[in-house]
This record gives sequence, structure tokens and C-alpha cells, in this order.
Amino acid sequence: MSAIHIALLGYGTVGKGVYKTIQTHQEKLKNIFRKDVKVVAILVKNIEKHHAPDPDILLTDDFNKIVKLEKLDVVIDAIFGKNPSFTYLQQAMNKGCHVITANKEMFAYHGTQLKQLAKEQGVTLGFEATVAGGIPIIQTLRQLLHVNTIQKVQGILNGTSNFILTKMREELYPFETALKLAQEKGYAEADPTNDVEGYDAFYKAVILSELAFGEIPNWEDSIRQGIQSITPEQIELFSAFGYRFKHVASMEKTAKGILCTVKPVLVNETHPFYQIEGVQNAVSIDGDIVGNISLQGPGAGMFPTASAIIEDLVYINKHSFSPIFLDEQNELSVKAFKTYWAI
Ligand code: HSE
Repeated sequence: MSAIHIALLGYGTVGKGVYKTIQTHQEKLKNIFRKDVKVVAILVKNIEKHHAPDPDILLTDDFNKIVKLEKLDVVIDAIFGKNPSFTYLQQAMNKGCHVITANKEMFAYHGTQLKQLAKEQGVTLGFEATVAGGIPIIQTLRQLLHVNTIQKVQGILNGTSNFILTKMREELYPFETALKLAQEKGYAEADPTNDVEGYDAFYKAVILSELAFGEIPNWEDSIRQGIQSITPEQIELFSAFGYRFKHVASMEKTAKGILCTVKPVLVNETHPFYQIEGVQNAVSIDGDIVGNISLQGPGAGMFPTASAIIEDLVYINKHSFSPIFLDEQNELSVKAFKTYWAI
């Protein structure tokens, strides 16, 4: 049986989650793809700290060795930061590989360029895992956009912040203890500054804006505040009055462009975000035809993120060998379409 050959960039929480999911779901994946799904290479930063989970897998700290592999179909990016991730994904696409990324920061900065390159190269680009962990928000928005105009999107987009705020209120943990626990559970970024100062949620808001409204917010005019200055005393005081702090990203189309704010707000029990606790994320979308749609689910962690990445893999497969015409938002793989007709 032929195979889909995958390279994993990064072998931390997310990379390991993807590898384990592929291993534990081999039969299911085989039924979907009619092919074996094989991880053939793993890129790590420090080779001394890792060992290959299988002797047939190339474990390397040199991306050139991966991109030169004769058999390579999909590159999955599970590393942090703008670069080298952006460079690696460009190289992979130029080689004709499909690409899936979970890298929010890189995609907020370079998503537009990567989408363009994917079109030029006739490959498919998946980024479901960049926003809201296991919630299928990217696919949901794409689906809605077939007929709806999106007016507003709001969300709790950072699992670590929501987890910290919940633990500070429920367990009376100090901020540092709650953050340490989020790190141990694999929710927080390598540098948790991105989580607690609102950068991570802001990057996700940028990615959602581009998809929902076709334009990104003006970075200079956007408001970004984190949760780092919220004290246990404030949490206790407002709790006594029936309010909870939630870290909310809000994006709206205005005459001046996309208005984006990312900041802590107080909500009472009448607000849909009041019950969103722990590592959960939530997204609320207002469409002109459908009205309001809300989704909630795990916003971070090994398997919720792996789930989003594997969904992208299935999406690539479906659209790479399907004769369905898709609009630009669905980024039809031109090469795959030609492949279909050549069969
Ligand atoms: N650190 C991120 C969060 C991981 O806590 O939401 C998922 O993007």
C-alpha cells in the first residue's frame, strides 16, 4: 500500500500529540486515505534531548535533510515563533508539499504570503490549529462565509489565561502557581509572556479577522492587554458581586477598518462567556443571515491541538483528490485538481 509521508517540525507537546494520534488512529486514517500515513522525519532544535520514537524515522536538527527527502508529501509545523518556521514552510511549499501549521505568531505575520504561495504552488495550506485549539473554528467560518457576511467575532482565545483566571478564583491560587500548572499541563507557550500579556490571543484575532472579514486589523490601532495585572483581591471582590474576569478578543468591521480589542473584561452570569472555565475557549460569530453562532471547546493541550491538525490532514486529502470546485477561501489545490483530471 502506498503512503502519505509526513515530516513533523517540532517534537514538543503538539508534535508528540500529532505523532501519537497518527499511531493510535492508523486504521481509521487508512480507511480515510486508502494509504498508510507515515511520519518519516522529525525536526528538533536540540538533537541531544530527543530520541526518534521509531528507528525508521529521521530525527534531525537540520531542515535541509528533511526538505531533500525524496518522499515527502506533508509538512506539519509545530514549532514556535515567526522564524525559522516561515522559511521552512516556504521551502516545503516550493518543493510541492502540502503544509499544516499550528504556529499562531508566524501565521499572524505571514499567513497572507503563505496563502498566496500555496495558490502559486498548487498545494494546500491548513491552519485550523492556529486558533482555539480543538474547536473547528476555521472550517466553521469557511462554511458560514459561503452565504453569510460576518459582522462580528468575539472569543476567549487563550486557554492559558482562562485557566489561570479560573484557578485564581476557584482555588485561590496565586498567579505564578496557576501559570506553573498551565505550563506543566502543556497549555502555555514556551515563553508564557505571549499568553499572559495578550499577544497569543491577538495573533489569533488577526488570523480570524483575515478569514472572517478579508482584512486584518491595523496593528497600531488595536488594543492588546493581558491578564498579568489582575490581582487575587480584584478577582475575589468582583466575584462577590457575581462577576468573573474573562480575557476576550473582539473583532468588528467598521467604516475605519477592523476594530480589534484584546483585553480582560468583567462578565456576569447572563453573559455566554461566564461559564467558559479552565482551558476552554469560546468563539461567538455574528453572521448577517444565520444570526449568532457560538462554539466552545478545549483551547489548548496535546490532543485538542493534534485533533485540529489531523482534521487539516483529512481536509487536504479530501480536496486534493476531489472534483469539487471550491471558492478562493477554500484554497483549492490547483495541482491536485489537475491530478484528478489526469486520472
Ligand atoms: N498557549 C496557547 C493557549 C496554546 O494557551 O491558548 C494554544 O494556542
